[in-house]
Amino acid sequence: MRDFVFHNPTKIVFGEGKVEQIGEEIKNLGLKKVLFLYGRGSIKRNGVYDAVTESLKRNGIDWVEVSGVKPNPVLSKVHEAIETARKESVEGVLAVGGGSVIDSAKTIAAGFYYDGDIWDAFTGKHKVERSLPIFVVLTISATGSEMNGGAVITNEKTSQKYSFWSFTSYPKVSVIDPTIQFSLPREQTVYGGVDAIVHVLEYYFDGSKERILMDRIMESIVKTIMESVEILVDDPRNYVARSNLAWAATLALNGLTSTGSFGGDWSSHVIEHSLSALYDIPHGAGLAIITPAWMQYVMEEDRDKFSRFAREIFKKDKAEEGIEAFKNWLKSVGAPVSLKDAGIPEDDIEKIAQNAAMRAPFGKLKKLYKKDILEILSLAR
Ligand code: NZQ
Ligand code: ZN
Repeated sequence: MRDFVFHNPTKIVFGEGKVEQIGEEIKNLGLKKVLFLYGRGSIKRNGVYDAVTESLKRNGIDWVEVSGVKPNPVLSKVHEAIETARKESVEGVLAVGGGSVIDSAKTIAAGFYYDGDIWDAFTGKHKVERSLPIFVVLTISATGSEMNGGAVITNEKTSQKYSFWSFTSYPKVSVIDPTIQFSLPREQTVYGGVDAIVHVLEYYFDGSKERILMDRIMESIVKTIMESVEILVDDPRNYVARSNLAWAATLALNGLTSTGSFGGDWSSHVIEHSLSALYDIPHGAGLAIITPAWMQYVMEEDRDKFSRFAREIFKKDKAEEGIEAFKNWLKSVGAPVSLKDAGIPEDDIEKIAQNAAMRAPFGKLKKLYKKDILEILSLAR
């Protein structure tokens, strides 16, 4: 194991009906007015909006709303919300949604205090050291954003989907009520599960050794997510599966799985972000296309670990068989596993590689340059 610091400051309130606690949590930290940020309407249809606003009223919290955050959230919406936050002198940001809403909230909370364009935080020109306090009601388990300091935003003018991380971006409190997720469309549940699995795999396959405890925990997280997703595609209101998937997805990217590691590989994520930047496909769908191809391409860098993955997750002997089984599992739950499945033409491979290569070289297990990205995309076609 490598040395590490583990410090996660986010308070998690987990369970059925806990949404009604959000107002009290905000009040307890002394806030009187928040920016209430949400997406394109699912919270109005499933009752979450009413539960949140009742809780805010009961606890004397005033709010101003910004809605319409889209999946693969964009910078222009963040700019609009920063204006509103300043004009209305809010004291915090309440995100009610999934990764797209939470990541926008983190960017707004950081942008509130920054005089320049907050995009500078994504290009590395500005280091975020101050943010408004962030509160979350999570509506889809996928990104782990409810318990980490990362945010991913697309600059739609330049087609760059980039991220920043700051210790000040960890939510103060996140409410995870698995019953809110009963209303998720089947494919969103699947994409969320795939995203969380790949978060674990980024750390599992980063070349780090002797993480005996973490390897076992990570395998357990992956298996729990797979089993839960299999149940939920047919039975979306299954509480046991929803709750186990939810906590597994949070643990996948809250710092736990990175302890003692090399910091994760992240190549599948970087290449995927080019797919969702260029084609606006769901992040989890993009990962289902890229990750098996990346695994195939880098397998020989750590055949032992890929064999272990095959054995522990799929009861197969060989590394190749594990990757094949993973791809088959993705197909079985309805995820796309090729560019073709997602309607992306083979002729676009050069364009996608060019977009991803703006970040090259990247990757821990194998350092990737444009030529490698082209190979991986070609395995994914
Ligand atoms: O817009 P609404 O109406 O809310 O609908 C959303 C959206 O269409 C819908 N939805 C969410 N909860 C629902 C629901 N529909 C019915 N019932 C519910 N309970 O689901 C759709 C997807 O929502 P989104 O927030 O985009 O999903 P997700 O949580 O997967 O977030 C994806 C974004 O997070 C980024 C991704 O790149 C992508 O932009 N990531 C963020 C990370 C982080 N901050 O740590 C790490 C990840 O690797 C990832 O890159
Ligand atoms: Zn992800």
